[in-house]
Amino acid sequence: MIIGVPKEIKQNESRVALTPAGVTEMLNHNHTVYIQTQAGEGSGFSDEAYKDAGAQILPNIEAIYDIAEMIIKVKEPIASEYNLIKENQLVFTYFHFASSEALTKAMIDNKSICLAYETVEKADRSLPLLVPMSEVAGRMAVQEGAKYLEKPTGGRGILLGGVPGVKPANVLIIGGGIVGTQAAKMAAGLGANVTIMDISLPRLRQLADIMPANVETIMSNQYNIAEAIQHSDLIVGAVLIPGAKAPHLITQDMLKTMQPGTVVVDVAVDQGGCIETCKPTTHEDPTYVIDEVVHYCVANMPGAVPYTSTVALTNATLPYAIQLANKGWKKACQDSKELKLGLNIVQGEIVYQPVATAFDLPYTPVDTYLKGEAVV
Ligand SMILES: NC(=O)c1ccc[n+]([C@@H]2O[C@H](COP(=O)([O-])OP(=O)(O)OC[C@H]3O[C@@H](n4cnc5c(N)ncnc54)[C@H](O)[C@@H]3O)[C@@H](O)[C@H]2O)c1
Repeated sequence: MIIGVPKEIKQNESRVALTPAGVTEMLNHNHTVYIQTQAGEGSGFSDEAYKDAGAQILPNIEAIYDIAEMIIKVKEPIASEYNLIKENQLVFTYFHFASSEALTKAMIDNKSICLAYETVEKADRSLPLLVPMSEVAGRMAVQEGAKYLEKPTGGRGILLGGVPGVKPANVLIIGGGIVGTQAAKMAAGLGANVTIMDISLPRLRQLADIMPANVETIMSNQYNIAEAIQHSDLIVGAVLIPGAKAPHLITQDMLKTMQPGTVVVDVAVDQGGCIETCKPTTHEDPTYVIDEVVHYCVANMPGAVPYTSTVALTNATLPYAIQLANKGWKKACQDSKELKLGLNIVQGEIVYQPVATAFDLPYTPVDTYLKGEAVV
């Protein structure tokens, strides 16, 4: 199959959908890979590295969309890309259709095949192409929190791990899923006193088994949160209720009970945040202060570490991309329920119910397209 990798043009996006290692894998499966010049630059991969791996470099985005049977991307196409996508072209990327009616209608109009990273789903209901970004954000939450706890950046002036003879910082992590677990590991590794809260007792049991001795698990409820925030130096918001806005577990009134210079990193900001005073910020201006509490609420945290994020993402996407390239989208989705759940729009029809519901548009069951001979 002919695979095209455009340079991401969404603002502040430095990731790329395929690394030189991924190119080698694709070539081993007898596919042809075209990379737009400088597509990998933001993540530290030069055109030379891609050429050495066997890719062909094309000078502009039009040439990539023109030649490729499958486009692999990172972010959803933006308006200037809508008309570059062709009928029957397979586009494998994050789409997040439910948040953009314009994107949804454009992908219906161009009759492409849209396979969304975010809805590829395993039998245990986990989302394998979202996990790597949660892992990055969870680890970053502690790194950023440590930075903003320093006095010159507005924090309490406390070192997470303390030093011999000085007590370490108290870190509270609300939500013990992917983000929370990674944040806890980082904070514990730095020597902080860590508390993880979750509403799931089985999850707390699991965490209690695997975490080091400086991590304690506490049931998440209003009483326990109100008590814990009073003596926490760093608080990481990491809750998720699938398909819903994050609950406001820390209200504005509660900020006054916290120590001046406490830092909150609300990773759940992309779902509205679990701290009432959370509003999305950017890497250019990541923090603001309310009631002497430093808020860090960057909605695309992995964007600050594009090398790590690119490699983490492509480690997860590549095996699926290879299946799609080897078999064509139809056969690959017939064979893999995980990939089939990724199909959102096929040749002008919405085949993923929540997207149709979001915009009150017609829905066609995906199986309509998966009968009969496989097509590439
Ligand atoms: N800001 C960013 O750049 C960024 C990057 C990646 C992920 N995220 C977001 O981080 C959030 C967490 O993602 P995840 O992958 O860890 O999700 P996850 O599903 O793995 O974990 C969420 C956890 O929250 C727990 N939870 C639900 N309600 C709770 C409550 N009231 N109190 C305590 N715990 C509660 C759940 O039991 C679950 O264990 C999501 O909103 C995700 O979109 C943000």
